[in-house]
Formats: sequence, C-alpha cells, structure tokens
Amino acid sequence: MAVPTAVLAVAALALLVWLGAHAVRYLVAGKQLRPVLRVAWRIKYTWRRTARRVGLAQTERIHSPWWSNRPPGTVVTRELIPAVTVAAERWGVRVDASTVGRLGVEEFTQAAGHLADVWRVPLVRVAQVRSGLVQIRALLHDPLTQPATWTDPTEAGSDPAVWVAGVDADGQPVTIRSAGVSGVVVAGLAGYGKTSFLNARFCQLAPSPVVQFVLIDGKGGPDYDDLFTRAWLSAKDDPEQVRDHLARVRELMAARQHAIRAVLGVKNVWHVGPSASWPLVVVVIDEAHTFLNETKGTDAQSKRLDALARETARLVEELIRKGRNVGIQVVLATQKATGDAIPTKIRDNCQVAVSFAQRTSEAATAVLGSDITAAPDEHPRRLQDPAYVGVASMVAQGRPGFTLVRTPYVPDATADAIATATAHLVRDPLHLLTTGEAVADAAPR
Ligand SMILES: Nc1ncnc2c1ncn2[C@@H]1O[C@H](COP(=O)(O)OP(=O)(O)O)[C@@H](O)[C@H]1O
Ligand SMILES: [Mg+2]
Repeated sequence: MAVPTAVLAVAALALLVWLGAHAVRYLVAGKQLRPVLRVAWRIKYTWRRTARRVGLAQTERIHSPWWSNRPPGTVVTRELIPAVTVAAERWGVRVDASTVGRLGVEEFTQAAGHLADVWRVPLVRVAQVRSGLVQIRALLHDPLTQPATWTDPTEAGSDPAVWVAGVDADGQPVTIRSAGVSGVVVAGLAGYGKTSFLNARFCQLAPSPVVQFVLIDGKGGPDYDDLFTRAWLSAKDDPEQVRDHLARVRELMAARQHAIRAVLGVKNVWHVGPSASWPLVVVVIDEAHTFLNETKGTDAQSKRLDALARETARLVEELIRKGRNVGIQVVLATQKATGDAIPTKIRDNCQVAVSFAQRTSEAATAVLGSDITAAPDEHPRRLQDPAYVGVASMVAQGRPGFTLVRTPYVPDATADAIATATAHLVRDPLHLLTTGEAVADAAPR
C-alpha cells in the first residue's frame, strides 16, 4: 500500500507543479499575450485529436514487435501523427511540426483552413522551414493589417544602397536590394498604395546629397506637385517632355560610362558608393504605361504618339539595361505589368519587382515571375481587401521566396515638408560631371 500512495503523491505534486507553472505563466503574461497562450494550450493539448480530424494522421500496417505478447508475425495497424512543438509569440502561435510519411507541407497547407476553424483563429499559414520540418503559424491578428505611418529613417534609412520597404508579418523590418539595381517595377491595382510606396522611398532618400531625382507622373494629377521642388527634372503627362527628360538622362549615362574609370577609378559606382558629385539618379515614372503603351491608332495624332511611346520605351529599356554600373535607377509604377502595358523587354530586365494587390494570376506572374504561383500565401491576389492597402508581395534581401510587406503610409504634408527642406540639394548631375566637380570630389577616395 505504501508504494502506490507515494506514487500518487508524486503524481499529484507533479500535476500541481505543472498547473502552477501554467498559472504563473498566464498571470505574468501581458494582456496581449494571454489570448495567445490560451490558443497555444488549446492547440497543444488537443493536437492528436485535431490532427486526426483534419486528415493529418496516417496509419500503417506493421508486424507486431518481438516484445509484444501477440503471436509472432501478427500484422497490426499503427497511427502516425506529426509531432509538434508549440510556442506562443506576439502575433499568435507557432507550431513546428515534424513531417511523417506522406504528411508534408502540401498536406498541412491543404488543412490550413480547417486548422483555423478548429483553433478558432482568423488565419493559419504554413511554410516549410527545412526538410522534415513544417512551420504552422496560427495568427491571432495579422500584423500586416495594422496600418503604419512613415517615420524618420534610422541611419540605414538614408543609405541609398538600402531600401527599407516596411515590416513583415512579424513586424520585422524588410529591405529590398538597391545597390547595383537599375530597374524596379512596382505594380498593383489602383488605390492600393503604389504612389505612397514611392513617396516613402523619396522621403528616405531626399535628405541625402548623394541622390538626385527625375520625377515623372503619368497620372498628371497633383500627386507629385510638392516633390518636384527636390527633382533635377520633373514632368507630368506630357509625353514629349518625358521623352526629352529621358533623353537627357541617357546623355548623362553615356557621359558617365565614358568617364567612370577616370573619375571614380572603378567600373561600377556601387563599389565606392554614390557621392554628392556622382549621385545616384533615381528616375521615378509613375503610371508608366501612360508613356509606353502604343494605341495603334491610324490617324496622324495616334501615329505621332505611338512613335513617341516607342522612343520612350527604347530610352527606358536602355537606361535599365546599361545604367546599373553608373548609378542610374529607374523605378516604374504601373497598374498593369502585363506585356500590353509595359514592354516585356523593359520589365524582364528589372532586378526588383514589387506587387501590391492584383486581380489575376497573369498580372501577378507578369510582375513577380512564375514562382509566385507556388507561394499562395504571398500571392498578390490575396491582397484584394481594403485591409491590405499598403501591403505588397516582393522578393526581399536575404530572405527566401516572397515576403508580404506592410509599407508605411506617407502623409502628403510629410513628403511636402521633406521636399521643401531638401530642395537646396538639387544639382544637375550632368553639370557636376562636365565641370569636373566630380573629379575634385572623388579624388580623396
Ligand atoms: N501604406 C499605406 N498604408 C495605409 N494606407 C495607404 C497606404 N498607401 C496608400 N494608402 C491609402 O490608399 C490611397 C491610395 O494610395 P496610392 O498610393 O495613391 O495608390 P496607387 O498609387 O496604387 O493608386 C491613399 O490615398 C491612402 O489613403
Ligand atoms: Mg498612384
């Protein structure tokens, strides 16, 4: 009798300790974390049942082991359920599941909707972190749906080599490659935040004397009025003026190609970084299809415009193809990135692509490439909801696959104030080059 009593006592004590630990954990957790803890425990302690119900269990028939008391050679059925570890995070619950048998990332992804129902959470996302391990994220609140407003950049923010795009689903900063990039496409349905995204980039770079801007707004509205004061060249929807500006940038590119070795001592400006005398020239063309689309009309006016469009397309294509090493970066924003809106020759040479919400798979594939079809969670079609205005899918620096990014909203007054305060930094990069200022400034390097 004495032994069972001792065993019972130990078991009761263990239970008490276990309950106590949970209670303490719950009490010390903040108001935000408690709901997450409740879900985490629900997930953990009901996992085997849940897995069976949503089809994440598999049975196999094996010979009973030698130590079993069944007759040797008896065939028995065994149930395989992926082992999980559960962790509560700020945004929700992270479940690391080991794959087993035929139960891998595909099966988990298929079951995601059911898991969300069982766990009573709004969203379940699944990703393979490495072979044998699938990560399931039960999100209690999607950080991507929390709007963010632009704030002054940190040190890294004003470095033209770094493009701080926003934050990911875990609230972590996300950067896009900018060094050695000559072409960027930003696409997405109207009203989902393309212009605001470009404004944020402008606000990051405008205070830096090593950046000059060419700002072109195909919409022709007031969006860019305030920013033009910080631009070397600017234009609205006047196709001839746009062509002339781009021709001037092309002239700069040719002159820089000719001078780069003598002036900078390198063949690629990114090896030394842009400087005040050899600034990065960011050419923003918003609503770019306005200038690149041919109407194919037969009247004289249409023919004239089509000839202009072809000329503009050639210039843009050349700047993107050859501007990389001399510090010229073209950023095209467009509602449509399909071949009829942006010539594929231009689009396919852009090293960086960003997509806000899209209605069709074709439109998303046109911007992000066919890989996006294998990333349903990050697919821009998913972003067609007012809650996702300002959220874009992109390939981020140092991250595999695609990342959804919450970009900050820039109030007009903020952009206006920055443009005005930095207007004195505007220089003509061609002038800097021809007057030899570039030589003088670059010499001490
Ligand atoms: N990052 C953002 N976060 C929240 N709201 C945004 C964001 N970007 C844009 N918006 C809202 O959406 C509207 C349209 O944005 P805009 O950048 O002009 O879209 P687009 O250029 O794609 O047509 C803005 O006026 C603003 O109200
Ligand atoms: Mg716009």
